[in-house]
Amino acid sequence: MTAAHERWTTRYHLAPHTGWLNDPNGLCQFHGTYHVFYQADPSWPAPGKKGWGHFASRDLVSWEDLGEALVPSIPEDKDGAYSGSALVVHGGAPDGRDLMRLYYTGNVKYEGDHIHTGRDANEVMVTSEDGLSFSEKQVLLRPEDYPSDLTRHVRDPFVWEQDGCYYMMLGARRADDVGDVLLYESTDAVAWTYRGRIESERPFGYMWECPNVIQLDGHDYLVVCPQGLPSGEARWQNVYQAGYFPLPQSVLDTQVVDESCFVELDYGFDFYAPQVFRDERDRCILIGWMGMPDADYTSAPDGLAWCHCLTVPREVSVGKDGLLCQWPVTEIDGLRGFSQPVDPAVGAILPHHYADIELEGIEGDLELGLDGALELSFSAGAGQLSMAFVDERAAAGRTERILPLESLHDLRVLIDGSTVEIYANHGAAVLSTRWFPTVDTLLVTMHATCERACSWEMGGEAPRA
Ligand code: FRU
Repeated sequence: MTAAHERWTTRYHLAPHTGWLNDPNGLCQFHGTYHVFYQADPSWPAPGKKGWGHFASRDLVSWEDLGEALVPSIPEDKDGAYSGSALVVHGGAPDGRDLMRLYYTGNVKYEGDHIHTGRDANEVMVTSEDGLSFSEKQVLLRPEDYPSDLTRHVRDPFVWEQDGCYYMMLGARRADDVGDVLLYESTDAVAWTYRGRIESERPFGYMWECPNVIQLDGHDYLVVCPQGLPSGEARWQNVYQAGYFPLPQSVLDTQVVDESCFVELDYGFDFYAPQVFRDERDRCILIGWMGMPDADYTSAPDGLAWCHCLTVPREVSVGKDGLLCQWPVTEIDGLRGFSQPVDPAVGAILPHHYADIELEGIEGDLELGLDGALELSFSAGAGQLSMAFVDERAAAGRTERILPLESLHDLRVLIDGSTVEIYANHGAAVLSTRWFPTVDTLLVTMHATCERACSWEMGGEAPRA
């Protein structure tokens, strides 16, 4: 491994040792163990087919790499076991214990344009009694089970239980190039009946990927990843977006959403396809892919043998304004080691790129630089927060992202090798990005007025099997 590759290795962000990672899949806590599956292509950069990689943990910080859980193996998933979710059925196993059901899209490609012809999407299920071995694949939905006005793009089943019934959402692209969500229902989580769809009032992108439902404090939020939004100055700055519609009523009573209410979940360069789940403590936890499809910047510079990682697990809560806040789960605090005060008027030099920096009681404008390469600045006058790269090598093609922010009270910056996650105002706004530091020490420059500023050295040993 070169010195640069070593410097970019993450300690507490899940990443493959070699090969490709995209969406988090099948997130759940099962018999006490957290399971994080993900879209994996171990043959990358050589062409390959997507399967599900598998990490497991008892505490969300020390992880085991369990290798590939699902690979294409039947005609209905021959070109990829695409994204999907997990459902834990309490008492659903033959011995009366819980049963894990995993749902995913089997991708099949033929000759054709792969949009209107030349592709099949099948929804497939496997079950597991131990979280380690998986049953035979069962095909639950085939192309003839979808409405007839769609393209061949239907995928990413998200399954949940509500009031004794099971529901499945699928992301879809209509034949008129408008994205929407299909909803199915079931009494046994195996046989599914079409129930309807959720659309936006006006077209909002040509495809909605990876739908999810967040149900918190009596409110429902529909999470989707719309593709094809025109980029604007302080919104839709990435190739594709990941965000949510706060719903005025239950998701089950929703047919139409107001697209003007769509809120982005993360304003950084590298965040897409988030998935949520409830853990056994009833926390709503979100993990996103720290990557972006079809971006013109790279996440594997200098011949790096692995591409992309996941965000830390984030607990989701509802803020005073009814919008969602995200915050690293408290288990991440347990990785904090040696602490060092940071002078808010100057900054600090830290020994390496594994740090958690917290600023509380911020007043007025702020400037925070990392290695003179990545600059974060808040201007109360302009009402915006910006994250800008000023060093091309560290940026690997990334430039600047801005977001409207009226005031800034606190800031938390998680740095982990080649990742930065920035949480503003206790997670009301988040920016996640990859970066590729060019030096070993971390130079933090700061011009701010705040009550407290502190940094911690971060431990953690993400498995890199
Ligand atoms: C989102 C996505 C999903 C699909 C998967 C394939 O990034 O395009 O819609 O299931 O990736 O890897």
